[in-house]
Amino acid sequence: MRLLLEVLADGVFHSGEELGRLLGVSRSAVWKQLKRFSAYYGLEVQAVRGQGYRLASPLSLLLSSDELSQRIGLTCHLYESIDSTNQEAYRLYAKAVHDEPFLVTAERQTAGRGRRGREWISPFAQNIYLTMLLPIKAGSVCLDGLSLSVGVALYRALSGLGLPRLGLKWPNDVLLGGRKLAGILLELHGDPQRDAAVAIGIGINVNMLAAEVDQAWASLRMVAGRLLDRNFILELIVRELQLCVEQHLANGFIALQSEWQRAHLWHGQQVRLSSGEHMQEGVVEGVDQTGALLLRQGEQVVAFSGGELSLRLAHDS
Ligand code: BTN
Repeated sequence: MRLLLEVLADGVFHSGEELGRLLGVSRSAVWKQLKRFSAYYGLEVQAVRGQGYRLASPLSLLLSSDELSQRIGLTCHLYESIDSTNQEAYRLYAKAVHDEPFLVTAERQTAGRGRRGREWISPFAQNIYLTMLLPIKAGSVCLDGLSLSVGVALYRALSGLGLPRLGLKWPNDVLLGGRKLAGILLELHGDPQRDAAVAIGIGINVNMLAAEVDQAWASLRMVAGRLLDRNFILELIVRELQLCVEQHLANGFIALQSEWQRAHLWHGQQVRLSSGEHMQEGVVEGVDQTGALLLRQGEQVVAFSGGELSLRLAHDS
């Protein structure tokens, strides 16, 4: 299957004869194999008489674990398919002693997790699904605002691509043209006063053009108008992530607070903040040193924090 994937990734036609030779089967058996291939990866294969077979859309495949580890300078575990990179990162951490951060990435997630119990749509070879597992030494660091520091890393990395209307939305979404481009999910394992680990999960819509997602979304390819090299984007992200995590661990979120505020798209806007049935309204005044959202409500400025909170513009029905 992998061989077929690598040949078809270019999105151009390959004759039945060529594919048959490659797979060591007759031309008539090629179509059967392609059907299995298509079902396995969830990829559409087009067949045109006289031209051959091609993928409906070309793919940018990730390099191997070894190549990624070498390019990035951190151990990177790559999977063709995994339930969730956050889940797998924690499984690896629990199995053996790890003093250094490591990465887990995958071509597809079968149970990708989003914030507030949502699913994160993770089709094969389209986007980036990445977790950095960060081991925490007993009581050594303050994790407040870490997810916002990760947001700064994504903003830095992606703003280098020259995308219009890119910015952050509290607490940790990256928006492109008002739609969700990337999300961050931090999961803490253990007690940070003792030995613990944080799984920093990042999902970025890179080459996806169609998907059923229950919120307005964007991908880099939609705006760039071309297929993007996911290895290049991954490398950009990890480089900025390492820098921001280092800054955060050394000095806390305060080191990145003003940069976060400059990238926040909803500064000064009238917003609604909800948690289940409860709703608050106010004008965004920024974030404090712990990453809590500051809302002006009349004469008062009130700080709000918590993973279950959801923010909307007040005029957005
Ligand atoms: C959000 O809801 O905004 C957070 C989405 C986080 C998705 C990423 S994809 C890689 C990592 N593994 C997961 O299961 N979730 C995170």
